[in-house]
Amino acid sequence: MKTEFGIIGLGVMGKSLARNFANNGFSLSLFNRHVDNIEENVATNFINQFSELSNSQGFDNLETFVNSLQTPRKILIMVNAGKAVDMVIDNLLSHIEPGDILIDGGNSHYKKTDKRGQLLSNKGIHFIGMGVSGGEEGALTGPSLMPGGHMDAYKLVEGFLQNIAAKDDNNNPCCKYIGTEGSGHFVKMVHNGIEYAEMQIIAEAYSILRFINKLEPTEIASIFETWNHGDTKNYLLEITIDILKKKEGDTYLIDLILDQSSHKGTGSWTTIASAELGAPFTLSSAALNARFVSALKEKRVTLSQLYEFNENTSLVNVDSLKKAYQLARIINHYQGLDVIENASNTYGWHIDLKNTVSVWTNGCIIASELIKKIISIIETNSNILESDYFVEVIKTSHHSLKDIVLTSLNHNIPIPCFSESLNYLNSVTQESGTGNIIQAQRDYFGTHTYKRKDDPTGPSHHTNWKS
Ligand code: 6PG
Repeated sequence: MKTEFGIIGLGVMGKSLARNFANNGFSLSLFNRHVDNIEENVATNFINQFSELSNSQGFDNLETFVNSLQTPRKILIMVNAGKAVDMVIDNLLSHIEPGDILIDGGNSHYKKTDKRGQLLSNKGIHFIGMGVSGGEEGALTGPSLMPGGHMDAYKLVEGFLQNIAAKDDNNNPCCKYIGTEGSGHFVKMVHNGIEYAEMQIIAEAYSILRFINKLEPTEIASIFETWNHGDTKNYLLEITIDILKKKEGDTYLIDLILDQSSHKGTGSWTTIASAELGAPFTLSSAALNARFVSALKEKRVTLSQLYEFNENTSLVNVDSLKKAYQLARIINHYQGLDVIENASNTYGWHIDLKNTVSVWTNGCIIASELIKKIISIIETNSNILESDYFVEVIKTSHHSLKDIVLTSLNHNIPIPCFSESLNYLNSVTQESGTGNIIQAQRDYFGTHTYKRKDDPTGPSHHTNWKS
């Protein structure tokens, strides 16, 4: 009996997705490579472990795996992003046929996805670059899926993907066609950019409560519990509550974890991609740089012994911190959506922003009530900062954010995302900025010319500044 769907790569995500497909009644062919003494009979051993996989077949030979699938073949590739994806595609090419569909579900770079799509389409093979969010648990119980590529190819696998995806409050699948080429992976990359800043904002709120208000992790967890309702409810806050409560003996586990954060690259890609588009994503970059600084442990230890700054003694108001938290998150999401919109226009992807954001309401790492709010607003206001709702929230929270930033700075507590959200908000709501000084400087040293306020669309001007 030929099977309906194939998965290549049985790492943590591949295994969870396979069980999810099987739980939804699909028959599967599962392939994992053979590596002597390291990866042997991975697929068959895995199938034997879980009863839901009784309709699945396991392989470590690619040709028999491909031949076991119904045509057109639908194959999900779940291997590490990078060279491994190219290797798998290369190896598959001698076995698959025109009309077959390959889906790359890893965190691949969107430009690579564009190239792979082109290469495969020249051979008549469909290719979908699909962002998958939700980690191991999400993959098993319902991930958020962001497929991009040719619509015709998507239609051939839509039924499978929508079945395994998380469902939103209206029971609609958190899987929507994003757009052409690498747009699915681009949107997943921006998701990760937002994720980086969401994590960092929580880390900063924690650090304020721990080091300024001198609260214990469980006390901070209790405050976060009160925040995790209504508009500020979100998945990352929820998991941080569990993290802060966890103890090893009498010690909080968080105090035993080395304060050096790592990353797998998608945050850097987001910063590069947004810079290429000229679309500010300053919170994501601030969060990325905070990870880089955290990694400089030795340097920080040395410098901390050389510098001791005076500290203020005033405490932070927890209600103000909650307002600042939500405001920083609003700016973070606003910037992320702006990057997607810019990319869609620049690369001609025709992304429907509301549709796209709707797949983030459940199953993914950044799932939150805020996303739901954004969806309800985006229909009438493509620029969410112009909506009555956000104007009101921002106006009533601006003072709190300023207070938190000032108090934290007074205590010498680094708060890159909080302060960046305030700086960005102050810049983007300022009618007159400092771009005129930059233009004059550029014109002075490089004759780069400038436009005049009294003739903004008119000719460019140059001044001999020395005379
Ligand atoms: C998700 C996550 C996931 C990502 C991890 C690690 O949506 O499930 O974004 O895809 O790989 O969060 O990312 P870093 O190692 O860069 O922190």
